[in-house]
Amino acid sequence: TGTMKINEKNHLEIGGVDSLDLVEKYGTPIYVYDTLYIKEKARAFKAAFENRGVAAQVAYASKAFSCLAIYQLMAKENMSLDVVSGGELYTAIKADYPSEKIHFHGNNKSDAEIITGLDYRVGCFVVDNFHELNQLNKFTSIRKQMMNVLIRVTPGVEAHTHDYISTGQNDSKFGFDLTNGQAEMAIELTRKMPFINVMGLHSHIGSQIFETEGFNLAIDKVLNKAKEWKKQFDFKLKVLNVGGGFGIRYTTEDEPLPIETYINTIIDEVEQVSKELGLEMPEIWIEPGRSLVGDAGITLYQTGSQKEIPDVRNYLAVDGGMSDNIRPALYNAKYTGVFANRVSDQTEKMYSIAGKCCESGDMLIWDLPLPEAQTQDILAVFSTGAYGYAMANNYNRIPRPPVVFVENGVDFLAIERENYADLMRLERSLI
Ligand code: LLP
Repeated sequence: TGTMKINEKNHLEIGGVDSLDLVEKYGTPIYVYDTLYIKEKARAFKAAFENRGVAAQVAYASKAFSCLAIYQLMAKENMSLDVVSGGELYTAIKADYPSEKIHFHGNNKSDAEIITGLDYRVGCFVVDNFHELNQLNKFTSIRKQMMNVLIRVTPGVEAHTHDYISTGQNDSKFGFDLTNGQAEMAIELTRKMPFINVMGLHSHIGSQIFETEGFNLAIDKVLNKAKEWKKQFDFKLKVLNVGGGFGIRYTTEDEPLPIETYINTIIDEVEQVSKELGLEMPEIWIEPGRSLVGDAGITLYQTGSQKEIPDVRNYLAVDGGMSDNIRPALYNAKYTGVFANRVSDQTEKMYSIAGKCCESGDMLIWDLPLPEAQTQDILAVFSTGAYGYAMANNYNRIPRPPVVFVENGVDFLAIERENYADLMRLERSLI
């Protein structure tokens, strides 16, 4: 995908840079992002709305991968930004992100986080629950500061990768329940909150979604409620945020839809249902994370020890693992990979790729066909750009790898490799 190819040396090239050169320069493991591909995807999301003449905001869900440089990149692309914590907000502000483009999420914002959001005058709060609504009312009233909000609702649609369950009852920690009167109550409460401007509603149905049916169902439910509330409270839905969740390809088993297809279906549904219900067409906001950065990132590891269990399995270990990619261990997530130092060599053997953490579950890939492994091959694992670095940890005191951006033959070190001293930076000696 993106600008990845096999070069004349039979090496994996990404962003016009030989991955072996990156390994030589930065060591392993290393995360590499194809930033041109990220920009192309950001532009594709926005163009999909522009082509239909639909007012929209595309917010990068930065939980997928957050750091100074990616915020700067997204700001330059005129993207809106979804942050879910004081830490993400702080980093975005350090990146000079235009604050009016920032959407502040989170199901348990602290008072300090709320105040920081107000101080920076973020574009909107996505209000998750009654506690937050009350605190926000309190602080905006004390400060006499208007704040835009979206009310997050759980529409009772849960999108699992391939099947959609339309449940009567919503068992989720997020948002106001749309089915038991709590969402109504929230809307009603905001009518008496003088500094809260409700712009609209937010719903997010899940992640790594390959079909459009779940979005359509959620849109129907939310718009029908908006219609009820229009009568009941004179509620005006200016913005409908349908969340993120657009799927990407990790392995050949995944069949994501083109970005345009997701967006066109969403637009069609909102247009059609709004018309049927006699509602004005709202702005449509989305917040993709994975689909912007996921398949733009790869991880390069060096291979090391092997363990062969005759007739059972060949383990091949790499110099990283669940500390830099916890998704296989946590979600049973599937990945694929190649030897970046000899990409098109004939595959000869089935390997299972083990990490180096002290845990049996630390396996990155089960059953990956590869050429006969030599010591010190470079294994490239694909589509590690989302929720990889973002969820990286220091289990076993393994320092987090660096992040390198590549584009047009140029590499840029976005995040340095951690060292052992970094790991001890916050520690105090007992004696
Ligand atoms: N908006 C909201 C409200 C969300 O909760 C999420 C993801 C997104 C947008 C972005 O979803 P995306 O476009 O990236 O699918 N750690 C998990 C994924 C957790 C997703 C949490 N919320 C993983 O590694 O698969």
